Amino acid sequence: RQRQMCIRDSIYIMKIAIGNDHAAVELKKTIMEYVESMGHEVTNFGTDSSESCNYPEYGEKVANAVASGEFDCGILICGTGVGISIAANKVNGIRAAVCSDTATARLVKQHNNANIIAFGERIVGVELAKDIVKAYLTAEFEGGRHAKRIAMISDIIGGIIKTLSGLLDFLTGIFTGNWDKAWGGIKKAFNGVWETMEGVAKGTINILIDGINMLWGGVYNVVK
Ligand code: RB5
Repeated sequence: RQRQMCIRDSIYIMKIAIGNDHAAVELKKTIMEYVESMGHEVTNFGTDSSESCNYPEYGEKVANAVASGEFDCGILICGTGVGISIAANKVNGIRAAVCSDTATARLVKQHNNANIIAFGERIVGVELAKDIVKAYLTAEFEGGRHAKRIAMISDIIGGIIKTLSGLLDFLTGIFTGNWDKAWGGIKKAFNGVWETMEGVAKGTINILIDGINMLWGGVYNVVK
């Protein structure tokens, strides 16, 4: 979304998605006000209730909003910041980073181009949370060698998806005369097939081991 950001009073006005679970309702309100006072636009994806709820729901909502390209970045808060960021990271294209200090908050933008920052109301105090958000929002992605590594993260996808995406790259490459892309697609597809087979083999072995364990447990109980 970088291209759609606008400049007002010499700062980039960003569209920011925010979400949290019941453990972070108060900190979320404070952070929203803080981010708005910096001139950014914030959209609240909830929850606003202190009733117990499930953090994956809010992690997913904010992650989908950011991945859709409608928002520049996201802020997620739960008790520790961990559960909600793990959930967000399941969404394709999301790089959510938990930060409990300002140096990490700056670096996750500079090196990892994190598009969501997460922290915990039970871990960081209000002032530190504000500083973390400020460090993250004012940092810039450095690109270069870091861009290559981020592309490698995107390549870590399931075997079947990798196979399909490789085939798509192959066909697109053939139809557009882009032979590098077509060749890359073939390699990716084979890689995907290999990973799928590896996954199936590992799964089968695990099932066999579980079966033998259960059988052994049964025999042991009878003998005993
Ligand atoms: C909720 O009690 C708590 O488990 C949650 O906010 C979070 O810390 C999970 O990672």
